[in-house]
Amino acid sequence: MCGIIGYKGMSDAKKVIISGLKALEYRGYDSSGIAYSTNGKYKIVKMQGKVSNLENKLSTDTEISNIGIGHTRWATHGKPNEVNAHPHKIGKTTLVHNGIIENYVELKNKLKEIYTFKSETDTEVACALIDYYANKSSNKLEALKKAQTMINGSYAFVIIFDDEPETIYAMRKNSPLIIAQKDNNFYVASDIAAILSYTNKYYLLDQGDIIKIDDKISFYNSELTPINKKLEEYSGTLNDVMKNGYDHFMIKEIHDELIVYKNIIRSYIPNFDITDLEKNFGTFTKYEKITIVGCGSAYHTGLAAKYLFENYAHIETNVEMASEYRYRTIIPNKKELIVLISQSGETADTLEALRIAKANGMDTLSIVNVLSSSIARESDKVIYCLAGCEIAVATTKAYLAQLLILSLLSILLSYERGKLTKEEVNNYLKDLPKLQKETKEILDNKKYYQDIAKDIYKDHEMFFIGRNLDYALCMEASLKMKEISYIHSEAYAAGELKHGTISLIEKNMLVAGIVTIDSIAPKTISNLKETLARGSNILLVTTKKLFKDYEKDNFYKYTIVVNNINPFFECLPIITTLQLLSYYVALYKGENIDQPRNLAKSVTVE
Ligand code: AGP
Repeated sequence: MCGIIGYKGMSDAKKVIISGLKALEYRGYDSSGIAYSTNGKYKIVKMQGKVSNLENKLSTDTEISNIGIGHTRWATHGKPNEVNAHPHKIGKTTLVHNGIIENYVELKNKLKEIYTFKSETDTEVACALIDYYANKSSNKLEALKKAQTMINGSYAFVIIFDDEPETIYAMRKNSPLIIAQKDNNFYVASDIAAILSYTNKYYLLDQGDIIKIDDKISFYNSELTPINKKLEEYSGTLNDVMKNGYDHFMIKEIHDELIVYKNIIRSYIPNFDITDLEKNFGTFTKYEKITIVGCGSAYHTGLAAKYLFENYAHIETNVEMASEYRYRTIIPNKKELIVLISQSGETADTLEALRIAKANGMDTLSIVNVLSSSIARESDKVIYCLAGCEIAVATTKAYLAQLLILSLLSILLSYERGKLTKEEVNNYLKDLPKLQKETKEILDNKKYYQDIAKDIYKDHEMFFIGRNLDYALCMEASLKMKEISYIHSEAYAAGELKHGTISLIEKNMLVAGIVTIDSIAPKTISNLKETLARGSNILLVTTKKLFKDYEKDNFYKYTIVVNNINPFFECLPIITTLQLLSYYVALYKGENIDQPRNLAKSVTVE
């Protein structure tokens, strides 16, 4: 949940680390810090708030340093202040940490007889533990190995020791860490974004791996056996992690949705033919049941998929939040496929759900954006989202990519289960260019969403209501609105409103109704009218065909109308419109759109 970086090389470590921390700031941004050495002595500088505060504080130090470690924090244990910010130093050991030490209280109780703790963090305790073992052995690798056996929880640590000022150590378990070398420069970071301006080649650390960087990188497993690592290559470009002229990453990433369509079509369905899907997604005929697991927006795409899978492929589908799945009783079923959805591929709850499913002998498929992430590596099969780096905390293009892949999967499942003929499938697939065209038109027509946003941004609360697939879209639309604009927003199954919640409807409260399914449209429309009768303002989000039926009723204050494509794909442009609406509402409110309060992009803690 935090961003970490270590550097040793020919450039000024302060500059490399600050630029890396800025690129990692989406992982956490409540405080930051750096430890860097000039002439063998480390200085530690920390600041509350953004990395730019740290950068300003460092600007007076003109001395060049060639080695250092840095951290940008999303607070778990202890307030976001300077004392709790990383790096932490105890004795001769200084480190930065991403993760959570679950047994830190127990460890602290033992270590407090030897060490005095200044912060409220679990990290300082881990630092003391490592220092304790570093004092018992002249071999730092042995000390780290010993510390690993004592720590429960998740960690990526980058560590330096006063008595080895020219060496960086690192180790990880359940939190990501990559290592790279370009000429005589060495980098350790939470992810590739931090170092992409120097290199796109990197090594991934596995569970328990420990590394040492002096004038080379030495890799060891948790038993300290030297190991070789495969060099990975990031296929994107630096543009992926730049705003490229947009005001925010979020709006840039919404525009990237056109690229997402291109990537997915080119890689998975180049001929718009079912054989493409069979070849690239595989066969699923042996399964009688699917359980989809994810968190936040990934859970919402799962919910949308449930309706698509059940409506069209007639396969029983459950959707579970990963944080719930991991604590429920699993009934192993060889005919059940567990589908894990995650943009980052590192979300702690989803990763644990995957491990539990595997431990119960079930087949696992992950739909993941970040290449070679833990969930991608550990699942039996993976379908990559091909959305490129997503930086804004609020997911947009990755959600869209997940939804498109799940829509395609539902077409494949429907075909495999005899619910669609080859011809029907291929006709649906041939609609993909329409989807691109529709999205392009929406993006070219941004002013429309800006105007609605201008009218509603002062609202304090709103509802999104819908049925079936539309309800799943409401869940995502509502999350998008609340997470970046801080307007209290609820997604509700339209028919459920009158069982209590309708009492919250007040004069002029916005109720957005998503209505795209012909057979149940009249039901949701009448639920919208029930709120209208209680004074609400209605935003009707629908398709052109349905709008024709309801246009004359004139019960709505605002409308968003998308072109009909086909029942598998219509949901995608709807989401783009509502992402734009949330973006502009947050923009009018003047909120910090890419880094909303209290949030971080990658939730690698429970
Ligand atoms: C959505 O905008 C959020 N950033 C959040 O709900 C996110 O989708 C969730 O934390 C899951 O992340 P993942 O896809 O990386 O697993």
